[in-house]
Amino acid sequence: MGSEKEKRVDLKLVQELAKSGRSPPPERYVRPEQDRPKCDPPVTCDVPIVDLSRLLDDEDEAQKLSSAVRSWGLFQIVGHDLPPSFLDEMRDVARKFFQLPTEVKQKYSNLKQGQFTLEGYGNDFVAKEDQIIDWNDHLYLLVQPEDKRKLDYWPESPTSFREILHEYTMKTRRITELVLLALAKSLKLDEDYFISRLDHTAEVFARFNYYPSCSRPNLVFGIKPHSDGSVMTILLPDEQVEGLQLLKDGDWMKVPVVPNALLINMGNQMEIMSNGIFKSPVHRVVANSKERLSLAMFYALDPEKMLEPAESLVDDRRPCMYRKMKTKDFLEAFFKKFVEGEITIEWLRV
Ligand code: OGA
Ligand code: NI
Repeated sequence: MGSEKEKRVDLKLVQELAKSGRSPPPERYVRPEQDRPKCDPPVTCDVPIVDLSRLLDDEDEAQKLSSAVRSWGLFQIVGHDLPPSFLDEMRDVARKFFQLPTEVKQKYSNLKQGQFTLEGYGNDFVAKEDQIIDWNDHLYLLVQPEDKRKLDYWPESPTSFREILHEYTMKTRRITELVLLALAKSLKLDEDYFISRLDHTAEVFARFNYYPSCSRPNLVFGIKPHSDGSVMTILLPDEQVEGLQLLKDGDWMKVPVVPNALLINMGNQMEIMSNGIFKSPVHRVVANSKERLSLAMFYALDPEKMLEPAESLVDDRRPCMYRKMKTKDFLEAFFKKFVEGEITIEWLRV
C-alpha cells in the first residue's frame, strides 16, 4: 500500500501536462472506455432563462423560476446588475493568476508537506490510488464569513485579485438573496426561510476552474459527473468556450453560453431542505482543444447547523426523503464521494 505521499508522486498540475502539446494525456487522467464523454453530444439544451430584474414583481417570471428548479434544478439569469465589464474583470484577474509561473502559484498550493488542504491551488484531493484525475487545476477559497478567510491562499498577483473577488462576492450575494427569496415563496415558506439559514455564519466558497487545452478531449473529463454539495451555486462560465453538460432525462446535453448570463444550479443541500421538490442536477465538464475558465460560488449552510427538510414540506403524503445530519458531516462525506465519482445525493435517501 502506498502512503499518501506516494499516491501523488506521478500527479502533475494539468496546466504543466498541457504544455507537452500534442502528446496524449497520461494514464492517470484517462477515463475507462465505457464512461468517456462523447466528443460532441448532439443536443444543446434549452436551459430556462430568468430575468432577475422582474423576478419579484412579475408572476410569470416567478413561475418560470419555480418550474425551472423543479424540473431542471438549473437556470441562467439575465437582468442582474453585474455589468459585463465587471464580469470580464473577474475573469481577467482569474486568467492572469493561472498564467503566472508555476513556482509563483505554488505559494498558494493545496498541498503542504504532502498534506491536502481544501483551500488553495492544485488538483482535487486524491483519495484512492486508482482515482482518475480530472483535467483541471483549481483555486478554492472560502470567501465568507469574512473573518474566516485564509488570506495566505488569496493571490497577491494580479494586484487587484483580492479586491475584485471581494466585490464579486458582495455582488453575487445579493443575487443569491433575491433567488432564495423567490424560491422560498414558490414553496410557500416564510420569505426569509432560506436567507435566514444562509446568514453570517454560512460558508461561501469560490472555486476557480482552469481547464487547459487538451490534445485528446474525449479521453478525459474537465470535471467528472457530480451534483454540487451546496445550497445553490452561481457559475460564471467562460465567455466563449462551452464545456458544461447536464444530465437530463438520461441524456447528456450541452449547456449553451448565453452572453453576460450567470448560471445558477441547486445543490444537494437545497434538494434536502426542499425535501426533494427542487432537484440538484447531475452535471460534468468536458475538456476541449481550447482552454476554458469558470468561477463557481458555492453557498453552503453553517457547518454546525442541521441539514434537514423544512418542516412544512414533510407530511404523510410526502414523508422525509433524506437522512438528517450535521452540515459538516454531510460535507466531509460529500468531498470524499465527489473525488471518487459517486453521485452524491443517493446515499442520503431514506
Ligand atoms: C463545479 C462545476 C462547471 C464549470 O465547479 O462544480 O460544475 O462549467 N463547474 O466549470
Ligand atoms: Ni458542479
